[in-house]
Amino acid sequence: MAGNVLEVKHLRIWESRTGKVLVPDSSFRLAKGECLGIVGESGSGKSLTCKAILRLLQGGLSQSGSILLNGISLAGLSEKEMRTVRGKRLCMIMQNGMRAFDPSRPVGAHLRDTMSVHGDWSSMEIEELLHEALMSVGLNDPVVVLGRYSHELSGGMLQRLMIALALALKPDVIIADEPTTALDAVTQFEVMEQFVQLRVLTGSSMLFVSHDLGAVKRIADQVIVMKDGEIVEQGTPSELFTRAEHPYTRQLAASKLPLHHHYMKLMGGAGFAER
Ligand SMILES: Nc1ncnc2c1ncn2[C@@H]1O[C@H](COP(=O)(O)OP(=O)(O)OP(=O)(O)O)[C@@H](O)[C@H]1O
Ligand SMILES: [Mg+2]
Repeated sequence: MAGNVLEVKHLRIWESRTGKVLVPDSSFRLAKGECLGIVGESGSGKSLTCKAILRLLQGGLSQSGSILLNGISLAGLSEKEMRTVRGKRLCMIMQNGMRAFDPSRPVGAHLRDTMSVHGDWSSMEIEELLHEALMSVGLNDPVVVLGRYSHELSGGMLQRLMIALALALKPDVIIADEPTTALDAVTQFEVMEQFVQLRVLTGSSMLFVSHDLGAVKRIADQVIVMKDGEIVEQGTPSELFTRAEHPYTRQLAASKLPLHHHYMKLMGGAGFAER
C-alpha cells in the first residue's frame, strides 16, 4: 500500500521442533517517516518480531506470513540480497552496544567496514561522513573515539556510535530493540534525545521497541502493545495513556507514568507538561 515503508502481514513464529507457537498472527504497518513503538513485558515477542523482519531468527525457529519493504517481499530475496538490505535499508540498533562490535578491533574499523559494504563512498568520504555523524551525536572527538575498542567506551557512547552509523547510512527503516534499557537514567535520557534527533535528520522510519510505555511516548507516533506474542492494542501514545481499553495496557501505563514524570521533572525536559 502506498505510503507504507514496512508492512508485516500475518507474521507467525513457532519452534520448528515442537511446533510451539510464539507469535501467532501479527500484522502492522509502518508509514514513511513514522515511528512505531512496540511495547510489552519481557517475553511478549518484541525481539522475535524484530528479528523475523530482518530474517535473523535463530535456527530452531520458523516464520511465515509476509514482510514487505517498500512493497517488496523480503521472503523472496536470497541471503546475499538480504545482507545488502540489512544495514543499508533496514538498520538494527540493539540493547547491548557492546555485542554489536567486534572486541578485537577498534570501533572505527567496524563502522568503516559497514559503510564501505553499504555505499559507494571513497575511504576519504567515509571518514568525513563518520566524523560529521559522530559530532552530531555529541562524540566531539571522532578520531579518538573511532580508535578505541568497544570495552574502552561506555554503553551510552556505544549506542551513540550506532546512532551515528544510522545517521551516515540513512536507512529506510531503523529498528531499535530496547536501545536504552541497559543504560542508567541520565544516559537513557540523552540517548533517547539522540534517537529523536536521528529521526529528524534522516527522515528514516523507525520501529522503537521498549518495555517502557513512558520512553516510547517521547518518540512514537503510533504504538502497538504486545502480550504473549499477540498485539492486544494499538493507538497513539496519548490514547494509550489516557484511554487504553486492554487492562494490560492500563497496567503498563500506570506502572510507567509516575517514573516518566519523575524523570522528565528531574531533567526539566519536554513532555512534563503533558499529564
Ligand atoms: N530461540 C528461541 N527458541 C525458543 N523460544 C524462544 C527463542 N527466543 C525467544 N523465545 C521465546 O519467545 C518468547 C518471546 O521472546 P522475545 O525475545 O521476543 O521477548 P521480548 O518481548 O523481546 O522480551 P524482552 O523484553 O525480555 O526482551 C519468549 O517466551 C521466549 O522465551
Ligand atoms: Mg527483547
